[in-house]
Amino acid sequence: MQNIFETVDSIVVSKLSLDSVDYTTKPSGFSIETLKDDEFIAKVLYTPISDYSIHEIKGHFPTTKIPYTPGFEATGEIAAGKSEKVKSLIGKKVSFKVNIGAWQNYTIGSLRQAIVYEDGVDLKKASAACYVNPLTVAGMLELIKKNNPKAIINTGAGSSIGRMLYQGCKSLNVEVVNIVRNKQKAETLKKELGAEHVLSTEDVESFRTEFQNVAAKLQATVCFECVGGSITGVIFNALPPNSTLYVYGTLSGQDISGVNGVQVRWANKKIKGYLAYTWFEKLTEDERNRVHSFISQNLNTIFSANIQGEFPLSQTKEAIEHFSKDMSAGKVILIPQ
Ligand SMILES: NC(=O)c1ccc[n+]([C@@H]2O[C@H](COP(=O)([O-])OP(=O)(O)OC[C@H]3O[C@@H](n4cnc5c(N)ncnc54)[C@H](OP(=O)(O)O)[C@@H]3O)[C@@H](O)[C@H]2O)c1
Repeated sequence: MQNIFETVDSIVVSKLSLDSVDYTTKPSGFSIETLKDDEFIAKVLYTPISDYSIHEIKGHFPTTKIPYTPGFEATGEIAAGKSEKVKSLIGKKVSFKVNIGAWQNYTIGSLRQAIVYEDGVDLKKASAACYVNPLTVAGMLELIKKNNPKAIINTGAGSSIGRMLYQGCKSLNVEVVNIVRNKQKAETLKKELGAEHVLSTEDVESFRTEFQNVAAKLQATVCFECVGGSITGVIFNALPPNSTLYVYGTLSGQDISGVNGVQVRWANKKIKGYLAYTWFEKLTEDERNRVHSFISQNLNTIFSANIQGEFPLSQTKEAIEHFSKDMSAGKVILIPQ
């Protein structure tokens, strides 16, 4: 049978540099015959740019192999499948995790890691949240329920995840100490979220004192940290006793430093990693379905995200430039069709 998905219009990175983001037509490498039972071929209608993808293109992760197509999530329409189950969903709108590159006009997903929307969903709105960020926040909310803190702390708080986490905590009546990297961003976020506690790390000495006071007052003993570098140590050392700091990102690209051993021993503080995929993989099928429904039911509340720019796939370089100027202003989405 002829493979109608023989080629794809795609972004290919052949050198780890932002100059090497090329729009091209390449062999897709997939066909209906080679799909697994729960896999589908999807028409990609929207796919976001993320800070992670930019770091990856710049070569900041040792495991990146070139040439490759970036992007790890997409929103689109199920176009083909091999199993009867998938065939019955052709035409359905989905947001899904992508392992073979999302920045192309067709790609592959699996039902295990896909939110299948009800007909009539506002798909562009859904594409702003897409898949990985709401999944990450859903897992964080489960961790919060398990640890039961009075308040939590989050860094990189102007990010899409930061905003979702704030709204999710509000729904659980858990206070959030939001931390961003400069004073102007702190003012903007305070207004946009209507949040009480937004701190800036711009002046580290005053941040340290202010943070220690507010974390102690609110008994904020769970911290989600995604910046890395020396600020992780500053935050860790100032946490209340018996706190846990979850490392979930490395926005600065720097190793964590400055952790005080006395705080680890005598104040019984812990540093743990948090990866949404690890949490999600351990769930049963029913639990995974419940997480997907929770996300699709809360697209207009907890998981509502802003779109600051839309670009055709052929203008991916411009889209990255636009996003890099202000990553807290909302998602920039690529439109490959
Ligand atoms: N562990 C997991 O399972 C998991 C899953 C998904 C994502 N993540 C991580 O979660 C983080 C947020 O992702 P996202 O998609 O929500 O982000 P996003 O919406 O793309 O926004 C990026 C944010 O990072 C901030 N930022 C960039 N560099 C920074 C630095 N050096 N110091 C402080 N802030 C910085 C930006 O603030 P400015 O406005 O100040 O530039 C912006 O608010 C990323 O680190 C990502 O890798 C983790």
